[in-house]
Amino acid sequence: MTLVPGDGIGPEVAAAARLVLDAACPRLAWRVEEAGATALERHGELLPERTLAAIREARVALKGPVTTPVGTGFRSVNVALRRELDLFAAVRPARSLPGVRTRHEGVDLVVVRENTEDIYRGIEFARGAPETARLRELLVRLAGYRLREDAAVTVKPISVSGTRRIVRFALDLARRQGRGTVTVGHKANIMRFSDGLFLQTARREAAAVPEVRLEDVPIDQLSMRLAREPERFDVLLLPNLYGDILSDLCAGLVGGLGLAPGANLGWEYAVFEPVHGSAPDIAGRGVANPVAMIRSGAMLLRHLGEASAARAVDDALDAVLAEGRVRTPDLGGSSSTMEVAEAVAARAAPG
Ligand code: NAI
Ligand code: MG
Repeated sequence: MTLVPGDGIGPEVAAAARLVLDAACPRLAWRVEEAGATALERHGELLPERTLAAIREARVALKGPVTTPVGTGFRSVNVALRRELDLFAAVRPARSLPGVRTRHEGVDLVVVRENTEDIYRGIEFARGAPETARLRELLVRLAGYRLREDAAVTVKPISVSGTRRIVRFALDLARRQGRGTVTVGHKANIMRFSDGLFLQTARREAAAVPEVRLEDVPIDQLSMRLAREPERFDVLLLPNLYGDILSDLCAGLVGGLGLAPGANLGWEYAVFEPVHGSAPDIAGRGVANPVAMIRSGAMLLRHLGEASAARAVDDALDAVLAEGRVRTPDLGGSSSTMEVAEAVAARAAPG
């Protein structure tokens, strides 16, 4: 498999995850490739072709966070990676962890976020640009919409084909994981055509999967209910923007960014990575919490069919967190990244 350590705390949490995964699954073979600021320095590119080729060859990668340098004309390594490999689904589990004190208990949900469409497609018109003036004229002619002259515009495309695959993916995930309910978050009463189409498509696809119940909740209500009773939810199925926002919210519900793992999945390729970024404020000090990266690695093992090794890693993490002796400063402890990794690796090793 391919390991992309990334930038900032990336190499620190990558080394920690590698130690644990090697202990749990000794026959893993690694190939290390670069992306982000590190790759820009060494290869003159943020996302070198050889890194992409390595991921394509292995089909799976474990990736640390990358810093996207501002002002390089390159939008984002993550957006480019998702597009190149057609990683249309972001999967982010949020589960209450033993020994981690939060406001709610018994949270066990999975956010499934559409990764390629919606207002994040990057179709933007700047205030005052000639194209924006032409767009304004067009909108008047097409339907009598009058935008203010000083408006900037971002376009929100949502398609049936783009939605159908994420809905099928979410229904399939629910069925495989024995989760009974998929909750669609939307604002279809206001955005009747874009969100309306997302909701309609979800309902149509769900009709073919009777084992999974589909419910829908307007996104504002859903935010309120997640703050009050997150333990009620099972799978959240969300268009891109809402998915981005609510996956951080859900990470916060169960203890914060240092604990939240994730995966970006397509039909062919899978890139596992924590929800958090490169955390420049704590990078290089060896105090980053490696749990999110290690749990992303456990998701990768499960994806590869190494279910018992994955379970060993998850159980080892739970045990170390529950015991509470070895934890990083973000959880109120004073251990280093590698001390956490060593404690988890010692429990995750077979035999
Ligand atoms: P961030 O997630 O890096 O940091 C936010 C806060 O959480 C910071 O105070 C940080 O110290 C803390 N934190 C994050 N991960 C932690 C961990 N494992 N252990 C302990 N504390 C942790 O978000 P920020 O600061 O907005 O972004 C920093 C850089 O990361 C930016 O260049 C951004 O573009 C990039 N980024 C990359 C992502 C990726 O590659 N998947 C995702 C999000 C941001
Ligand atoms: Mg985000």
